[in-house]
Amino acid sequence: MDAFHGRFYISGEFREKYVVVDRGIIREVKSEMSGMDVKNIPGHIFPGGIDMHVHFRDPGETEKEDFRTGSLSAIFGGTTTVCDMPNNKIPIDNRQSFESKLSEIRNRSFVDFGLYQAASGVTIPEAVGQKIFLGKSTGGLLTELDDCEWQDKVKVVHAELQECIDNNNKESKDLVSHDMNRPLECELEAIEYIFKYNLANTHIAHLTSSRSLELAKSLGFTTEVTPHHLLLNNSSPIGSFGKVNPPLRKKSVQEELLNILNSKSLDVIASDHAPHTAAEKEVFKDSPSGMPGVETRVPLILSLFKKGLIQIERTVSTLMEKPAEICRINKGFIAEGYDADFISVDLKNVTEIMGDELHSKCGWTPFEKFEGIFPDLVYLRGEMMIQEGEVISSPSGAFLNAKKQ
Ligand code: DOR
Ligand code: ZN
Repeated sequence: MDAFHGRFYISGEFREKYVVVDRGIIREVKSEMSGMDVKNIPGHIFPGGIDMHVHFRDPGETEKEDFRTGSLSAIFGGTTTVCDMPNNKIPIDNRQSFESKLSEIRNRSFVDFGLYQAASGVTIPEAVGQKIFLGKSTGGLLTELDDCEWQDKVKVVHAELQECIDNNNKESKDLVSHDMNRPLECELEAIEYIFKYNLANTHIAHLTSSRSLELAKSLGFTTEVTPHHLLLNNSSPIGSFGKVNPPLRKKSVQEELLNILNSKSLDVIASDHAPHTAAEKEVFKDSPSGMPGVETRVPLILSLFKKGLIQIERTVSTLMEKPAEICRINKGFIAEGYDADFISVDLKNVTEIMGDELHSKCGWTPFEKFEGIFPDLVYLRGEMMIQEGEVISSPSGAFLNAKKQ
């Protein structure tokens, strides 16, 4: 048993508490304590971040990222759990590829992880959820909805409708034309389209506008945005490095999205960490869509919190609590029975984000010189993982089965 003492985020505010941890799980949260050695944690203590949307490329494209570098990047950015997408080189849409992916990455992760399957005619009970591609993106997967078997789990939807993309698609030569080739209407049409399937637990990934977000919420879906759609737009000076699907929108649309951070219509902020090498990203028309973000997600949003742009309850809810609830994992809250994943943050410690100091194999960030607040200490199931800028643990991340209902 271990006991920790500090200012923990509990039910809407930071409270000075003692947290007793037994075999990685929070057993008790109390106001006084005696008779046990106590470890003091400084700063503000949040639950570990949960990023329910990452592409760690492993196996198949480990020149871009592998589970070791992706998970290192996660943990340095205060994320202790990730859910990894199934658009690997060999798609994860059957039991054999799922099992071979799991055995490949099992001992490489510094964070706990769930794995999605691509929705298909087979169901994989160990998957954390099912991914639906309504339009083709990197990897070219397109879901045949009528042939799918469904599980009682989250269905994460890439909401750009292929038919609409085909009607618009020309060669993208810059961020503005990329936006025109995959316009917002393709996103709105995709949301309406998936509604007709009446699937339980539908979650719409990477929404790019307040309009599509409100539409998704009004139809009963859970909603997700990314830091890049919140903070970048199609006139940001990042050229081909900003090519992503769905595209960055124009400035007014981006600003409107940023303005609804405090609205309950928004459930989750996920990174859609999609690393490609800097060399591949160089020339616009050949640049594969996607950008890294797992390490900067929590730090960027904490800096928005410090600036007063997002409330504390919304910060914790979008980065930690809601993704855990949606993926049905026993995390995201500092409360009895949950995993003891904590990050300790000094809110005065605002730094400039620098691509070459991050841990992703891809070595660049679209958020160069943006302000971020990185955690000083990171604990995974009661074990200290990061201290003074160094990882001090082995890759002890565990594979998470989705909770049964
Ligand atoms: O821009 C994107 N990149 N969008 C996706 O849907 C996939 C991702 C990737 O895997 O690179
Ligand atoms: Zn994605």
